[in-house]
Amino acid sequence: MTAAPVTARAGANIALVKYWGKRDLALNLPAAGSVSITLDGLETESRLVADAALNQDELSLNGRPADAERIGRVLDLMRELAGGGPFCRVESRNNFPTGAGLASSASAFAALVVAAARLFGLDLPHDRLSELARRGSGSAARSIFGGFVEMHSGMQADGSDCVAAPLLAADEWPLEVVVAITDSGAKKVGSTDGMLRTMDTSPYYRSWVDSVAEDVAAAGRAIAGRDFEQLAEVSESSALKMHASVLAARPGLIYWNGASVSCMHCVRALREQGIGVFFTIDAGPQIKAICEPGNAARVGAELESVPGVENVLYTGLGEGARVIS
Ligand code: DP6
Repeated sequence: MTAAPVTARAGANIALVKYWGKRDLALNLPAAGSVSITLDGLETESRLVADAALNQDELSLNGRPADAERIGRVLDLMRELAGGGPFCRVESRNNFPTGAGLASSASAFAALVVAAARLFGLDLPHDRLSELARRGSGSAARSIFGGFVEMHSGMQADGSDCVAAPLLAADEWPLEVVVAITDSGAKKVGSTDGMLRTMDTSPYYRSWVDSVAEDVAAAGRAIAGRDFEQLAEVSESSALKMHASVLAARPGLIYWNGASVSCMHCVRALREQGIGVFFTIDAGPQIKAICEPGNAARVGAELESVPGVENVLYTGLGEGARVIS
């Protein structure tokens, strides 16, 4: 246990094979595995201050007070592991739009558990940190690691093997990422609620879940072999299949806007011209274009000119969550 404040930093991640659906709500166990890349430019920095005067955890998000319930539950688990510990003030800052389908909960919970482990004096291996981050948000389990990451769906009822693991370091295949922001406002139906609705009502949900393991294996092979074309094929397919299942929920969820669709066509047209790029899209209207090294400038220039694109962000692959002070 240290009395000094701890600050940790973690990158957002983008799933190439999507996580969408849960097999256990209480433990937040995903229904299937997933594969992602951790980003270096889109980060959350979380500063934790232990305060014996508090009677519950407090959160500020980008300088404004926010609901601390979800982080409080994860901090409770960690206090239990440490045999007790004080409540904390958590100051969390994102350097990218929050709640707009850019996976801010992933970087936030990854930074939180890494900082809290240090603050509470818990010397935990990465897979245990990943398990704790998962309790906050499924995708956060992956942001513990850098580069290319696989989330294992696991077999154990207690979720102890439902953790992420690194596949390839960022510098071993330095893909570039261009994010086309088509609407920077917060999304209307968050991923947790969207998943629950899909699980309850989409006639395609079961076949979606049944198809994921094969995609995870194909993405793993593509990454091991640095096979961009194969990765492009399986990643676009996974994103579109996830959205097909989401669109078929009742009422159907349409996370896309017109510019999202135009960006998908733009990326497909570039690929037909021989440029190594593919798209993916999450629970919001932004399009993420994953580029072979050297292609980001060209892809970004094209996406900037798509009507409805407000802004374009450039980033690459980054490290896993770490304490910075
Ligand atoms: C579309 O990790 O936000 O980004 O576990 O309920 O917090 P919870 O869900 P979350 O879902 C992410 C969904 C996704 C796909 C992905 O990142 O794999």
